[in-house]
Amino acid sequence: MEIIQNVDSLRNRVEFLRKERKYIGLVPTMGYFHDGHLNLMRLSVSECDVTVVSNYVNPAQFDRRDDLESYPINFERDKALAEEIGVDIMFYPQTLYQSDHKTWVTVEKLTDVLCGRSRPGHFKGVATVVCKLFNIVNPHVAYFGQKDAQQAAVIEQMIKDLNFDIRLVLSPIIREHDGLAMSSRNVQLTPEHRKKAPVFYEQLQLIDKKLLPDLSNKEMLIEQAKKTLENIPGVRVDYIEVLSWPHLEIPDKTSHRLLIAGAVFFGNVRLIDNIIKEL
Ligand code: PAJ
Repeated sequence: MEIIQNVDSLRNRVEFLRKERKYIGLVPTMGYFHDGHLNLMRLSVSECDVTVVSNYVNPAQFDRRDDLESYPINFERDKALAEEIGVDIMFYPQTLYQSDHKTWVTVEKLTDVLCGRSRPGHFKGVATVVCKLFNIVNPHVAYFGQKDAQQAAVIEQMIKDLNFDIRLVLSPIIREHDGLAMSSRNVQLTPEHRKKAPVFYEQLQLIDKKLLPDLSNKEMLIEQAKKTLENIPGVRVDYIEVLSWPHLEIPDKTSHRLLIAGAVFFGNVRLIDNIIKEL
């Protein structure tokens, strides 16, 4: 596996591969790999001639300094895991922003709800860095996880609006044995909160199971889920919502797919999870 740290070197490498008619897959990540990341890489390796994984903790998408500073990093372990899977290139830039950076990508409406509402500026940072990665790597296909469903909806919209010739593949959420969605943040949970964390997904599943076709009990189910979660000491619900997928609007009887999504603080650790429900 090649490790490339420099933007121009990566650009040259990929340009050469494109001339060789290689089909190129990109897996954008912020490192500290777990099976959720590795699954995306495996998918790319199985479908593409060349897999590029970016490993960059993007400061622009963090709305809290303490969150950025405590974000876990383990490059050597990441390198070994990606190599084992057959990743061809790992892009590991020191920074992707010059000190005079002034251009930002804003995707409207889709970013006004859910995580966009509680983390102002977050998706501006995500869209901008993914736009940069798309321009640098110029992949045929990019792999994203459903774990960050809103992120995928935002990127899909950006691809369409900015005419990127890139196919987005959305891959299912990979979970721990007890149902907790895998996340780089799970290691930050206290042992007590780690034990209780699966209640989050259980509550989303309960909404999924009990939601009536006319959605008339939606608010009641959401309130029950919030109450159950907030009964756990140190737990605060940021949001639990049911929106149309992938437009992220208030759903009605004509919605074909729903996103049942939540963000919950276990202490200082903010976890997100969701279920996409076909109607
Ligand atoms: P990161 O949180 O490292 O996630 C990288 C990719 O892995 C994302 O597409 C995310 O949805 C996916 N992923 C994470 N946990 C997963 C799980 N349990 N199951 C399936 N997929 C999972 O998302 C980001 O980084 C950043 O916002 C990024 C897109 C790299 C831009 O900086």
